[in-house]
Amino acid sequence: MPSATINVMEAAARKAARGLIRDFGEAENLQVSRKGPADFVSEADRRAEDLLRTELHKARPGFGFLMEESGGHAGKDPDRRWIVDPLDGTTNFLHGIPHFAISIALEEAGRIIAGVIYEPLRDELFWAENGVGCYLNRRRLRVSSRRDLSESVLATGIPFRGRPGKEVFLATVDGAIDLTAGVRRFGSASLDLAYVAAGRYDGFWEFGLSPWDVAAGVVLVREAGGFATDINGADNMVYGGSIVATNERLHAPLLQMLHASLAAADIAPTS
Ligand code: IPD
Ligand code: CA
Ligand code: CA
Repeated sequence: MPSATINVMEAAARKAARGLIRDFGEAENLQVSRKGPADFVSEADRRAEDLLRTELHKARPGFGFLMEESGGHAGKDPDRRWIVDPLDGTTNFLHGIPHFAISIALEEAGRIIAGVIYEPLRDELFWAENGVGCYLNRRRLRVSSRRDLSESVLATGIPFRGRPGKEVFLATVDGAIDLTAGVRRFGSASLDLAYVAAGRYDGFWEFGLSPWDVAAGVVLVREAGGFATDINGADNMVYGGSIVATNERLHAPLLQMLHASLAAADIAPTS
């Protein structure tokens, strides 16, 4: 049974999702208009964040926040805060592509202890809590059991216009093309991590991410029996920018592949 904390996170996510589903329908309509849906989508994003802040605050008044749109707010409780991405997959949402999620994590004394990633269009609620396991709705999840990169399907992210990281991306994807069964870029880092936890992807790596993109996913992967680290194999994947997440067997080979690809392109492995 999910704990009271997960129930709070789930209820907030489901409530915000109702607005997002409505707004997604509108964004699809606006696709064809000359004005385009961009302003409308940033409003939808803000509305979802406001609703999540209100709901989470109502349920746990002392907790602080770190949210994508409104930044950090300390709560009365110095040890606990919510880390929230109200809409992960904004570019998809804007283009009427049905792949986006709400991501909520709970951090306690610097450690992420619970995560909920909700994909409203498929009604998939991925959740995990320290020591309790990782679940999709009520079904327990495990990472995949593949042992070889050559049989593995990996996900990653592609930096877009105005963001750094093109060379790093090109170098690492070059290695992955040679060594894996396939690479995907679906456009929502939180869902990429949820899919690793569910064994749909065998692994995921990306550079230049923010805490709200990965905080919930990290606890999902860990509780599903996988590993998540930064590019240096260290624990700094929530705040460091880079993440490498896989099942227990593929983590070392994937890290090795990424480092070899960066070395071949003469790039030092940073975030
Ligand atoms: C983005 C998505 C995407 C990742 C980007 C993120 P947003 O978040 O997670 O998959 O590649 O780096 O910024 O902007 O849709 O919340
Ligand atoms: Ca995001
Ligand atoms: Ca976002």
